[in-house]
Amino acid sequence: MTDTARADLLIGDVLARIHAAIHEHDVTYEEFQTAKQWLIDVGQAGEWPLFLDVFVEHAVESQVFENRRGTQGTILGPYHLPGAPLLEAPFQLPRRDDEEGDAVVFTGRVTGEDGEPLRGAELDVWHADAKGLYSGFDPSLPEGILRGKVLTDADGRYEVRTIVPAPYTIPEDGPTGAMVHAAGWSPWRPAHIHLIVSAENHTPLVTQLYIDSSDYLDNDVADAVKDVLIVHPRPLDGSDELGFTYDFSLSKELAAAPV
Ligand code: BEZ
Ligand code: FE
Repeated sequence: MTDTARADLLIGDVLARIHAAIHEHDVTYEEFQTAKQWLIDVGQAGEWPLFLDVFVEHAVESQVFENRRGTQGTILGPYHLPGAPLLEAPFQLPRRDDEEGDAVVFTGRVTGEDGEPLRGAELDVWHADAKGLYSGFDPSLPEGILRGKVLTDADGRYEVRTIVPAPYTIPEDGPTGAMVHAAGWSPWRPAHIHLIVSAENHTPLVTQLYIDSSDYLDNDVADAVKDVLIVHPRPLDGSDELGFTYDFSLSKELAAAPV
């Protein structure tokens, strides 16, 4: 199929579905003008990336990786920053001296499809703080905290020390938040840790691990939770830290990933 034929198919179909919804729901001129102004407002507020990551990315991810072998991925979202530092033992994500939140260590292995250990695989990790805020996006947080990369050892093992993040709402003060409120929807995402796991000759895995005790696991505004990505932090014997394990299996299919 040519690019023009593909554009004709996709754009034509999306428009046809909008037209069908207008007819089915008997849309008025007042509603059309409200929608038109809202679309303009989203652009002027620079919220198209946010809107698309919240309401559309999960469908693209599940479609593109429908037949993915290995560990499941989920959405990237808008809060990844390239260039996080590579951490050395004890592999603790940068944090403030008085960082709030339960300390947690998570460990596991990165393997290929046949279970072979992947040495030198990279885990790029980032998450919100105990108030649900991301460094680099909320000016009240020091730059670079709760972001870092670790590499696996010869057995494919990794270790990351950090704090348990909190659930958070998508921004509520702009047009995306206004739409969520207008429709009476919840603006919350459950507590999660983002990862991009990559290794040579394997498809990068963009995923999130969801904290089992979090609210909103079954009511995520971004519809990105998968049961297999829920983790269970528990107190570790003889330590103040919580701990959990999670193993990642990377596949060699070369579908394009979002990073
Ligand atoms: C996130 O997981 O960080 C996220 C995803 C979609 C929209 C906003 C945030
Ligand atoms: Fe997030």
